[in-house]
Amino acid sequence: MQVTIIGAGNVATVIGRLLKKHQHQVLQVINRSIEPAQRLAAEVGAEAIDYQGKPNLDADMFIIAVSDHALQECLPHFNLDHKLVVHTAGSVSRDVLKPFSPFYGVLYPLQSLRKEMQEIPEIPFLVDGSDEAVTKYLEDFARSLSPMVARMGDDDRIRLHTAAVIVSNFTNHLYAITEDFCRHEHLSFDLLKPLILETASRIRHVSPAEVQTGPAVRKDIQTLDKHLRILTAYPKLRTTYLRLTDSIMNP
Ligand SMILES: NC(=O)c1ccc[n+]([C@@H]2O[C@H](COP(=O)([O-])OP(=O)(O)OC[C@H]3O[C@@H](n4cnc5c(N)ncnc54)[C@H](OP(=O)(O)O)[C@@H]3O)[C@@H](O)[C@H]2O)c1
Repeated sequence: MQVTIIGAGNVATVIGRLLKKHQHQVLQVINRSIEPAQRLAAEVGAEAIDYQGKPNLDADMFIIAVSDHALQECLPHFNLDHKLVVHTAGSVSRDVLKPFSPFYGVLYPLQSLRKEMQEIPEIPFLVDGSDEAVTKYLEDFARSLSPMVARMGDDDRIRLHTAAVIVSNFTNHLYAITEDFCRHEHLSFDLLKPLILETASRIRHVSPAEVQTGPAVRKDIQTLDKHLRILTAYPKLRTTYLRLTDSIMNP
């Protein structure tokens, strides 16, 4: 398939690489600033243009991977005629694209993507189209990129996006504040990494509730008290510890 990407950030870059890997042709990379577009275009063998350039309407699909707030801002720059246009946002309605083409949809990669990543991780795609034919088209296209593809409308997508923030952004925040605690206490955060990876990998096959461990689930009050005394010097971390302990004890 011939695809044009609007955007040259994290998602645009990883999707561009994925398209190339699966023998799709990236025709153009269109971006507000030309330098990032040129970098990505060189990597995937496409033409780079900025918003003053002319989109090549030979593309079968335009994938818009710009910041959520920029989605509606960037589209009026182009006349995409009756072309299929999709966005990649988890929390933005499919219908923001309605004014720009009768054929539109969502191709949401449910993964944390960074252009610096060396390898492309497993990416589930959630697809939704303006009508059944577009949804089917996007579903087939997504299946050419990933074995994990699901149809999902706005309401469920935003719910799953909420869940994604909790499991990904919140756990990472816990790592960040724990790393800070370790730094202050002159402890090695590196020594915790095998534990972090083991805990995460367990849930591939078991429900997280079944493998919950630690003093809170054991209702080990003595150990909890010791930890809370240590955390007196870290009031915000102590509050987080207490809230999560309560959540584990009273699920
Ligand atoms: N990153 C993820 O893990 C992830 C995962 C799933 C979905 N998404 C979604 O994918 C979309 C892109 O996210 P991203 O992480 O790739 O963003 P990003 O790395 O921050 O890249 C932002 C892109 O948006 C463009 N942009 C920003 N403000 C603009 C404006 N006012 N007008 C025109 N263009 C503008 C930037 O252009 P310049 O280069 O000119 O600044 C750049 O191409 C978002 O909808 C996001 O919610 C992200």
